[in-house]
Amino acid sequence: MSDPPEPKRILVTGGAGFIGSAVARRLAGQTAHAVCVYDKLTYAGNLASLAPVASNPRFQFVKGDICDAAAVADLFRRFRPDVVMHLAAESHVDRSIEGPGAFIQTNLVGTYVLLDAAHRHWRNLSGPARDNFRFHHISTDEVFGSLGPEGLFREDTPYAPNSPYSASKAGSDHLVRAWRHTYGLPTIATNCSNNYGPYHFPEKLIPLTILNALERKSLPVYGRGDNIRDWLFVEDHVDALLCVIDKGRVGESYNVGGLDERRNIDVVTMICDLVDEMSPDAGRPPRRELITFVPDRPGHDLRYAIDCAKIRTELHWRPRETFESGLRKTVRWYLDNRPWWQAIRAATYGGQRLGVAV
Ligand SMILES: NC(=O)c1ccc[n+]([C@@H]2O[C@H](COP(=O)([O-])OP(=O)(O)OC[C@H]3O[C@@H](n4cnc5c(N)ncnc54)[C@H](O)[C@@H]3O)[C@@H](O)[C@H]2O)c1
Repeated sequence: MSDPPEPKRILVTGGAGFIGSAVARRLAGQTAHAVCVYDKLTYAGNLASLAPVASNPRFQFVKGDICDAAAVADLFRRFRPDVVMHLAAESHVDRSIEGPGAFIQTNLVGTYVLLDAAHRHWRNLSGPARDNFRFHHISTDEVFGSLGPEGLFREDTPYAPNSPYSASKAGSDHLVRAWRHTYGLPTIATNCSNNYGPYHFPEKLIPLTILNALERKSLPVYGRGDNIRDWLFVEDHVDALLCVIDKGRVGESYNVGGLDERRNIDVVTMICDLVDEMSPDAGRPPRRELITFVPDRPGHDLRYAIDCAKIRTELHWRPRETFESGLRKTVRWYLDNRPWWQAIRAATYGGQRLGVAV
């Protein structure tokens, strides 16, 4: 077995969100690294997702906006990161259709502010601190557009984003590439497929379906549910991200995928069956009967699927969960952690659909 990596100071932007909080919980809970979460706490940010590590002496939280250049410069001065893991983003496609402005601000302007601060910080470093500094940009497979029935996204697939969300992420990927090429900043990027798992904000397909099925509300599915996504359990994504900051090659991008393509209708049906099994309602009809088909959202990409051969062969990463095992853990987590999602549903979000009223 190889030695564990040297303890580092890791700045996680967006670390109160779904994936960022999984990264922060792992870093603070299971490694020797020091972690600072920097997060604006938008509707998607939730300090309750960081509660398991909040009192850890190697963990700290700073509330702030990545678009605020003065606050970000101050953060770099005080925390002096060895590694930046940049996850802060507006992330929900349906919201980007209704209000693209916030996506341009955070995903493009915010990424620029962070790159500029990282560059100023890095160019004043010397020796191993300068050599080992990394700016890790976490992005999505949606930058590649939509696939037909065949084929996979590779790292060299041309960009073809279709939604305001994916266009703003594609732009941020290009900024990262330019900061590497122009200034030599040691950047690495990852483009990942759809994640699911615990602590997922209940407006996304999987948690929304679990909670609505549990409460026996109707289960709206876009179109005929034929859209296909390549699902990855969030802890497998965290494994991949930690592998990349540890062993990834500077200047490269790595595609990360679950090797598990599913039609949306099959995902929803599997959830109904799992909720029936784990929360049985004697004498009531199977939850599959709650499924309804609703008009598709504008520009809905048909299929995303990832070729993750590069990260598998170069960095020896592979997902540990199958979709069946990961989904079972996810449904169990929502049943066992009601206070987490009940607080969100009561305060900010009632479970309605977004993104079709344009
Ligand atoms: N969820 C997925 O399936 C998926 C897949 C691939 C890539 N990604 C990427 O991973 C990253 C994290 O995704 P997620 O699903 O955890 O998102 P999320 O929406 O759950 O969390 C985003 C976090 O960023 C914070 N944030 C938003 N604007 C900010 C700002 N201006 N300044 C500081 N913080 C701000 C929010 O408060 C929130 O805590 C995103 O960059 C996303 O594009 C997500």
